[in-house]
Amino acid sequence: MPDDQTLMQLARDVAMHAHCPYSGFHVGAAIAWADGSTTVGCNVENASYPVTVCAERSAVSAGIGLGQRVIKKVAVWADVEQTVSPCGACRQVLMEFSACAAGEIEVLMGGRTDIKRATLADLLPDAFGPRSE
Ligand code: THU
Repeated sequence: MPDDQTLMQLARDVAMHAHCPYSGFHVGAAIAWADGSTTVGCNVENASYPVTVCAERSAVSAGIGLGQRVIKKVAVWADVEQTVSPCGACRQVLMEFSACAAGEIEVLMGGRTDIKRATLADLLPDAFGPRSE
């Protein structure tokens, strides 16, 4: 399992590849999966704005295509003074791949000067998830 600093550095490195001609806001995400492997992703914007995919969901999709299913930790980085926070849609997608209904995933949120830590359960309390029905 990569340490927090390594995971955040992966997120920071991939942010430079963001396709963000509309917002100019580069975001990178790195996911640590249950087997210790990592995948990365950046935001991919579209001329039809709502079609945009966030960095977090790009990183999740990269892992799912490799057969991964259980997320342990995610780091997200953007070039902001303090920290960036995953949007609601990304929180829900992360919940889909939590090992348990409580949403035990660790979320590291980074920017130029700060790192904040939370669990997915902190960010998405009382979530509807794959075990809710
Ligand atoms: N964005 C992300 O990729 N992740 C976040 O956590 C917040 C927002 C992207 C979407 C869009 O390309 C740009 O940032 C501005 O909203």
